[in-house]
Amino acid sequence: MTHLLTVRRSICITLLWLTGIASAWGDSVGERIYREGIVSSGAALQGDRGPGMHLTGATVACVACHRRSGLGMMEGASTIPPIAGIYLFNPRSRNGDDQNLPFVEGMRADRDPYTVETLARAIRDGIGANGKPLSMLMPRFRLDDGDMAALIDYLRTLSPGSVPGVDPTALHFATIITPDADPQTRRGVLAVLNEFFADKNHFTRAQSEHLHSAHRMMFKAYRRWALHAWELHGAAETWEAQLQAKLAAEPVFAVISGAGGHNWAPVHRFCENAGLPCLFPNVDLPVVSEHDFDSLYFSRGVLLEADLIANALTLHTPANRILQFYREGDVGADAAARLASRLTHRTLISEVLKPEAGARELATALSHLRSGDVAVLWLRSADVSHLAAVPPADVSIYLSGRMAGLEFSPLPPAWRSVTQMSYPYDLPSRSRVQLDYPLGWFRIRKIPIVARQAQIDTFLACQILSDTTNHMADTFVRDYLVERIERDVDHRIINAAYPRLALAQEQRFASKGGYLVHFANSSGPQLLADGQWTVP
Ligand code: HEC
Repeated sequence: MTHLLTVRRSICITLLWLTGIASAWGDSVGERIYREGIVSSGAALQGDRGPGMHLTGATVACVACHRRSGLGMMEGASTIPPIAGIYLFNPRSRNGDDQNLPFVEGMRADRDPYTVETLARAIRDGIGANGKPLSMLMPRFRLDDGDMAALIDYLRTLSPGSVPGVDPTALHFATIITPDADPQTRRGVLAVLNEFFADKNHFTRAQSEHLHSAHRMMFKAYRRWALHAWELHGAAETWEAQLQAKLAAEPVFAVISGAGGHNWAPVHRFCENAGLPCLFPNVDLPVVSEHDFDSLYFSRGVLLEADLIANALTLHTPANRILQFYREGDVGADAAARLASRLTHRTLISEVLKPEAGARELATALSHLRSGDVAVLWLRSADVSHLAAVPPADVSIYLSGRMAGLEFSPLPPAWRSVTQMSYPYDLPSRSRVQLDYPLGWFRIRKIPIVARQAQIDTFLACQILSDTTNHMADTFVRDYLVERIERDVDHRIINAAYPRLALAQEQRFASKGGYLVHFANSSGPQLLADGQWTVP
């Protein structure tokens, strides 16, 4: 029974979707009104929300409330209804039940379908399909006939249809590994993903038996999760083409986790262009572009660390010379540039190590430090283990935690008490209980811990994805997935290594702060915080 209904529904929706595509081909006027609040003349969209509440441009663009998917949202007590075409025009079924429409929280089953005329009246005058006024939360828009027609055409294209990567039996996800990713991170991340997917499939099958009787869940068919590992090769200039070929050959609904090295930008760009959600990849250097939509990250990585260190330097050592140590071609170069851009009035000196440089070159670079200097080390754990037995006297030292291995960094004993490390996670003493769950899960499944933090983050990314897809009923729309994660992520209580996660429109980094810490002892992972959690 369930299966039959699902098939009938997907045929019906595919037809609606195809009609939608046809009418909007080559038409971006409607999209600009909807997403940017700009009408065909190039002027700002005009909307009124009552006397003295005249709003213009992006602040009243439909996207701000009805979201990019057009599926609306529920925010506290208020619901914003979906306005994707099928929700507006679809005739009510005889028993008043909208079984032909994918379920979303704000959908309205209690009114007549709109016609083009009554829809224009709703948008201009705020009169709903039944002739009753809509609440003043919904602005009244001034749009000429041409712009109105373009906007309505665009609303039709938003309707959820057949989505690549979603078929009657499976939800397909990809994970992307770039060739410059650390091999241990690659191995650790893939091990967690494979186990999580296997687990998910094991438990979903058992649960879905119960759902069949629940009316609301009629369409929630059992779908297994399928993982496609997209491993890129060769030069970065060729990655986008490789990704396009992979997406064409193996359509996926979204990209989950993954591992990158110095250069994640081509992957980020590919996902944005393809409208493909790219959820929480393990990268030290994400692309910072809060206007983008599809790419969500746990944090700004080493750029966040640069900001944490910049804050501390501004407060504590306002005049000293700063020497930054990093390797050519690694993410430390970008972190160093970020720090320099935050401290324009200071003297910053770059000590750049060649990719092939060894312990001797590192020692030579460090010998340039003088009494009273500040040293900022953007160095990986291999370099950190080659630091001399004793640090230079009377120098303040800062170290990137992400690059140096966090609390497991091989920093020589004498350096440990005098080095401050940026630590963009909750303190281990506070997150211990939260971490018990992923770490215990790894242990039971015999997953080797080879890239601890990346593996914990991968597990959290999978949990977020799983929780969100469980609540999406069968409304698998890519933009809607991103919107749901954006909204749900700050209701989570247990977030592994992060004290709190929050996303919003134009906020693509879920954890925004960190600590400066130093080691409590000359050996062992115990850390002491030098101050509060800071959002720089
Ligand atoms: C500031 C938030 C906001 C913005 C911006 C906004 N809306 Fe709305 N819209 C709402 C709310 C809230 C409702 C529900 C009102 C009610 O039910 O009384 C609504 C209802 C609607 C409805 C009626 C849906 C139904 O099922 O009856 C349509 C159609 C609509 N909006 C279209 C648009 C379009 C098109 C735009 C952009 C040009 C837009 N809205 C911009 C908040 C907004």
